[in-house]
Amino acid sequence: MSVTIYLPKDAAALALGADEVAAELTRLARAAGQDLNLVRTGSRGLFWLEPMIEVATPGGRIAYGPVEASDVEGLVAAGLFEGGAHPLRLGAPAAIPFLARQTRLTFARTGIVDPASVEDYRAHGGWAGLERALELGPEGIVEEVVQSGLRGRGGAGFPTGVKWRTVAAARAPQKYIVCNADEGDSGTYADRMIMEGDPFVLIEGMVIAGIAVGASRGYVYLRSEYPHAAAAFALALDAARRAGLLGARIGGSAHDFDIELRMGAGAYVCGEETALLDSIEGKRGQVRAKPPLPAHQGLFGRPTVINNVISLASVPFILAEGAGAYRDFGMGRSRGTMPIQLAGNVRFGGLYETGFGVTLGELVDEIGGGTASGRPVRAVQVGGPLGAYFPRALFDTPFDYEAFAAAGGLIGHGGVVVFDDTVDLRAQARFAMEFCAIESCGKCTPCRIGSTRGVEVIDRIGAGDAKQITLLRDLCETMKFGSLCALGGFAPYPVLSALDHFPEDFGPEDFGAGAAGSAAAAE
Ligand SMILES: Cc1cc2nc3c(=O)[nH]c(=O)nc-3n(C[C@H](O)[C@H](O)[C@H](O)COP(=O)(O)O)c2cc1C
Ligand code: SF4
Repeated sequence: MSVTIYLPKDAAALALGADEVAAELTRLARAAGQDLNLVRTGSRGLFWLEPMIEVATPGGRIAYGPVEASDVEGLVAAGLFEGGAHPLRLGAPAAIPFLARQTRLTFARTGIVDPASVEDYRAHGGWAGLERALELGPEGIVEEVVQSGLRGRGGAGFPTGVKWRTVAAARAPQKYIVCNADEGDSGTYADRMIMEGDPFVLIEGMVIAGIAVGASRGYVYLRSEYPHAAAAFALALDAARRAGLLGARIGGSAHDFDIELRMGAGAYVCGEETALLDSIEGKRGQVRAKPPLPAHQGLFGRPTVINNVISLASVPFILAEGAGAYRDFGMGRSRGTMPIQLAGNVRFGGLYETGFGVTLGELVDEIGGGTASGRPVRAVQVGGPLGAYFPRALFDTPFDYEAFAAAGGLIGHGGVVVFDDTVDLRAQARFAMEFCAIESCGKCTPCRIGSTRGVEVIDRIGAGDAKQITLLRDLCETMKFGSLCALGGFAPYPVLSALDHFPEDFGPEDFGAGAAGSAAAAE
């Protein structure tokens, strides 16, 4: 009798030896005369358990992990093909506490389905959103997305439905849907996991967006550092075209829509929406002044919806289950779920999708299990390289756009990077300025020049010059309010949060006070 085993082909699992495990499984099954159906899936996002293999049994899937190639022989001897007992046996995957506590709406299928199979996607509820979208028509779709309360998951948190309404209302012979898959933030991988593990949910979301606003062409702008995502997505595009879910007259409707995959060239600033549009147009990625908004004049000067992967991948659930089913999760103006990515020095690193409102402390201490090093957690950076550093005193901050802004931070794309007590926050502040200097597109002065001056000022602080702290704060204000885009505008967040919450890393105890004193004297 044939046995089905699911094994991730996700980049994180591959890095941990998934292909070697696959080869060993295949070899030993053949040797044992066992017919093996090996399905390569995405990852469920429990990275400390990767490579995690799942065996289909009459009682459901049984997981084992983390499995190394050298474990496979022992596993097979212990009755792996029947779900037998073994120290690496984890039981039913959905019962693993890290997964059981989650609310998986957008990631409901990731790690479960075969990412290359249109049929498997359908068997797990896929395409139901598109079917309802075709019934509702453009205005109905936009209204549903507005009502869901979905806000952009790329960083700025702008209401997705409002953006779509603007593009829908624009009159033009051609409109575009652009998916931002540049995913440049440190500690983030949710976009990659979707594209490798459940690419059809993104395709479905883009098709729905196209029908909603009257666009017949879509582009996915993917960072060049994601070759596995590129390969998985390209396969899915071909499969969707063959199934009539991309191309002319989608699903037998009057709508045409197709998607082109474009690879970026490795610049962080090309994740900024207007620089991204320039890059797709074949120009050097440089930030455009707004207005005009991309919704009015975007790609090739045409009205364009530009959304993050997760924003678009959230749409099929909203259409299939209704706006209310999504809006019911969350808090305040942050509705629905957020795929939070736990990274850095954390014991249980991985993808944790949950309704907004979970506190930073719950995420880091309970769900993440503290640091991987076993040392105390000292700081957590949330929202990528331009996000603030949070001290333990702010761990009661709920994951919510407004609450994070009120605490001097941002949620960004949901990356949570944990640091233990060996972290040097002055070095981290310096890194933020250095990063900004390297990645700056050079269009505006506060960012282009300010970031380089910022590195110098922080170096002078390190050399013992307390007066430079006032200058650093001044420089941060100038960059915050004078920069054209959020690269220069947000680089001060990690710097100021480091200064405010970890002043001891910038000099002796009276150092900050001395700087404040000199500021007062200057007034
Ligand atoms: C420097 C910079 C880098 C950015 N990088 C990304 C990125 O990698 N992915 C992304 O979705 N948004 C990124 N953004 C935000 C985009 O400009 C834009 O807000 C987003 O694509 C809109 O989609 P959403 O409304 O679905 O979030 C970046 C912004 C800035 C200023
Ligand atoms: S803030 Fe920096 S990246 Fe943004 S436009 Fe100005 S120079 Fe370019």
